[in-house]
Amino acid sequence: MIRAATPEAIADAARSLRRGELVAFPTETVYGLAAIATDAAAVAAIFAAKQRPAFDPLIVHVDSLARARQVVRHLDGAALRLAERYWPGPLTLVLPKTDGIADLVTAGLPTVGVRLPAHPVARALIAAADAPLAAPSANPFGYVSPTTAAHVAAQLGATVPLILDGGACAVGLESTIVSFAGDRPTLLRSGAITLEALEALLGPLRLATDAPLPNAPGQLPRHYAPRTPLALIDAVSDVTAGARGSAALLACGPVEDAEGFAHVERLSDDGDLLIAATRLFAALRTLDAGGFSRVYAVRVPERGIGRAIMDRLRRASA
Ligand code: TXA
Ligand code: MG
Repeated sequence: MIRAATPEAIADAARSLRRGELVAFPTETVYGLAAIATDAAAVAAIFAAKQRPAFDPLIVHVDSLARARQVVRHLDGAALRLAERYWPGPLTLVLPKTDGIADLVTAGLPTVGVRLPAHPVARALIAAADAPLAAPSANPFGYVSPTTAAHVAAQLGATVPLILDGGACAVGLESTIVSFAGDRPTLLRSGAITLEALEALLGPLRLATDAPLPNAPGQLPRHYAPRTPLALIDAVSDVTAGARGSAALLACGPVEDAEGFAHVERLSDDGDLLIAATRLFAALRTLDAGGFSRVYAVRVPERGIGRAIMDRLRRASA
């Protein structure tokens, strides 16, 4: 059931969580599917609801630095600098975990991903539950992440008793993930906190693409994927007239010479990539429902949030 995220609904949701039930809730990135991170049985129910393989670790959400310190063994140095600069916000830090966090949460890894979200409903829910919340994106494993309560209901409505509606997500892409598990900070997933911003604070980061981590399945080549085949193109002129009739075009900004496509989806009027990012996943869902033979997506420059957009488009096309 979808409920508007009133204080009363949030209090009910917190009670559900404490009983071991799952609750879907809004964050500024995407909607999450929560269980209390120390409740192993409830965490197991997340994996079942999402049909998520047990080797894929979950992110733990907190509402304060103090609660983060209950989840990770230490938060200092470069990790603390990032936390102080970007929390609350769309940034996840991977750090050594404490014993209370269920092993299933971290897929048996000695580290845990922790994030302090900015969305007021997310923070109110964690505070009301008075516990760290393990929460992956609230979508079936491998599919596009939900950016509205209706997206969650469409795919998980039958298995998730309560979906808190906090409106459309302001960021629209999953959080940036930086790991402090190795000797050097490593970017595991790009997001709205850009590589450029991270490097301005920390100096050069290692990129997971340089040395793929088998234990970070968010890094699986095919992920965030719609069912309709998606092809990346450099320019609209790459698509022949003959290939256009049954296909859709997806672009982040204005496009020229886009005649002949069955549908044209423009994610922003003027090419603003922050706006395009907020609309990307909803657009992929809409296009997926449109019955097109193929979606052609125009590449964007891999700078700033363009890197995160291209990461999701590349996985959708794999
Ligand atoms: O924006 C977000 O991060 C959203 C919202 C709900 O907060 N959550 C999210 O969770 O995107 P999920 O489960 O879809 O992505 C979690 C990914 C894993 O697939 C893995 O790549 C990485 O986070 N991860 C989590 N814990 C990790 C760990 N200990 N070591 C390495 N990677 C980890
Ligand atoms: Mg996910």
